[in-house]
Amino acid sequence: MNAPATPAVPHHRLPELLRAMPKAELHIHIEGSLEPELIFALAQRNGLTLPYASVEALRAAYAFTDLQSFLDIYYAGASVLLKEEDFFDMAMAYFERAAADHVVHAELFFDPQTHTERGVPFGTVIDGLTRACETAERTLGVSGSLILCFLRHLSEEAAFATLEDALPYRTRFIGVGLDSSEKGHPPEKFARVFARCRELGLHLVAHAGEEGPPAYIWSALDDLHVERIDHGVRCVEDPVLVARLAAERVPLTVCPLSNVKLCVYPTMDQHNLAALLDLGLCATVNSDDPAYFGGYINQNFIETFDALPQLGSEQAYKLARNSFEASFVDAGVKAGWVKRLDDCFAVFAD
Ligand code: ADE
Ligand code: ZN
Repeated sequence: MNAPATPAVPHHRLPELLRAMPKAELHIHIEGSLEPELIFALAQRNGLTLPYASVEALRAAYAFTDLQSFLDIYYAGASVLLKEEDFFDMAMAYFERAAADHVVHAELFFDPQTHTERGVPFGTVIDGLTRACETAERTLGVSGSLILCFLRHLSEEAAFATLEDALPYRTRFIGVGLDSSEKGHPPEKFARVFARCRELGLHLVAHAGEEGPPAYIWSALDDLHVERIDHGVRCVEDPVLVARLAAERVPLTVCPLSNVKLCVYPTMDQHNLAALLDLGLCATVNSDDPAYFGGYINQNFIETFDALPQLGSEQAYKLARNSFEASFVDAGVKAGWVKRLDDCFAVFAD
């Protein structure tokens, strides 16, 4: 794509612009979009009793100290998902919020092992999610695709078994990723699984450099051959790595609210999003697990731009444009979205 223009938009119109501009979301765990109200509704529908007395009590438990303290609650929340309809309802609720935030395209992570380990068939999970993607495109005009994530705290053997389960549904997902507890589970643990996925023509991404060191980002690039790094914020600790990510335009799917909620940064004004852009990296803004971290994609944009004075309309444009560049769609589709972005900025320009 050509170098972005530098659109001039008056500062007071920035929040409105951030909300209205078309954008793609590339880092959203669909299980992380389960709002407490929906957790309770699904528990009731499925005859399950939750270890929390109310929606408020559940929400009050969302005080995380690190990634693991979040994951423990996140996997417990996902345990209410049993039927195809549950997966459909969860994903449709997300797509409705995404459409309201002017998301034109979303690439959704899903964690099949979280469900198959509880006896929910892989087909049930992917049937519900696929139907939601089709419905969202038809009724909301938001395109969606699925990325199957392997849980890195489980074994290589378990990942291979999940891939076997998934192969009859090969056309229903566009790629694979790697998530869950990062520290102690470096990407190289899954090198052979990712090699097989690469042979199958799947897109490859991995969480790296969220809590883990820059060495994990190197490993995701060199051992897994990923096309995008999820989070990746710790790359700044290694200038040689930054130079490589910039030169190869490897996208980083950054999730600012997540990083603050999981104590990667103490406060938003210490987040490095602006620095990543200044270093020439293809950074994007995403919500990660919006039901747990205090907001969907537009809330991430609003809070980062509020906290970081270096961020203005030029950076807003870059972030939206990067999200299109980093997405796994055809160049022609990307060009159409860039045109919509330019039209939006023209409306807001001085
Ligand atoms: N699964 C859901 N959210 C995650 C995150 N932020 N990091 C790793 N695994 C996750
Ligand atoms: Zn994530």
